[in-house]
Amino acid sequence: MDIKPLKFKQLSGLSEKQISEHHDVLYAGYVKKINEIRTKLESVNKDDVNATFSDFRELKVEESFALNGVKLHEGYFDNLGSNGRPQGKIIELIKEDFGSLENWDKDFRACGIAARGWVILAFDLDSKKLHNFICDAHNSYGIWNCIPLLIMDVYEHAYFLDYATARKKYIDVFMQNINWQFVNSLVEKYKIVELRK
Ligand SMILES: [Fe+2]
Repeated sequence: MDIKPLKFKQLSGLSEKQISEHHDVLYAGYVKKINEIRTKLESVNKDDVNATFSDFRELKVEESFALNGVKLHEGYFDNLGSNGRPQGKIIELIKEDFGSLENWDKDFRACGIAARGWVILAFDLDSKKLHNFICDAHNSYGIWNCIPLLIMDVYEHAYFLDYATARKKYIDVFMQNINWQFVNSLVEKYKIVELRK
């Protein structure tokens, strides 16, 4: 896998240093590690495998951590970089499934305080509805058959340089920088409106 470049250097309320440490060091580290894991998986012993410990098992576990680390960070950086002004089809869908934009906003922010890693607004292909989910680590609590549409990183590394422990302030800043146009492009790309029928 290759490192996906950022479309911005800084954001309103998030410094260049904060973002470059997050993207160029942490995210880039996950890309490096998934490549290393995949290379090792090509030659690892698949005969002497064990569920308590084996090289194959450890590589498969860390594959889920590193690959989700890549995917979640790419989604996070992709859905930032604009002015946070709600717009487009996604807002209509949120209102349908959460009752109002305010209800969704309150739930999403509460998830941001409750989670130790990630908050994800996703479309559930089975219920055909939007839902906010939390993860404590890249590979925890992921729900299958869901399409992530908006991803917020709430690991301390996402904000500590700028906000120390003030996570609520960081969540405000995240919301003010959401690129809703990008979220709408995902609604189009995955044909979410058609899938709801
Ligand atoms: Fe992160």
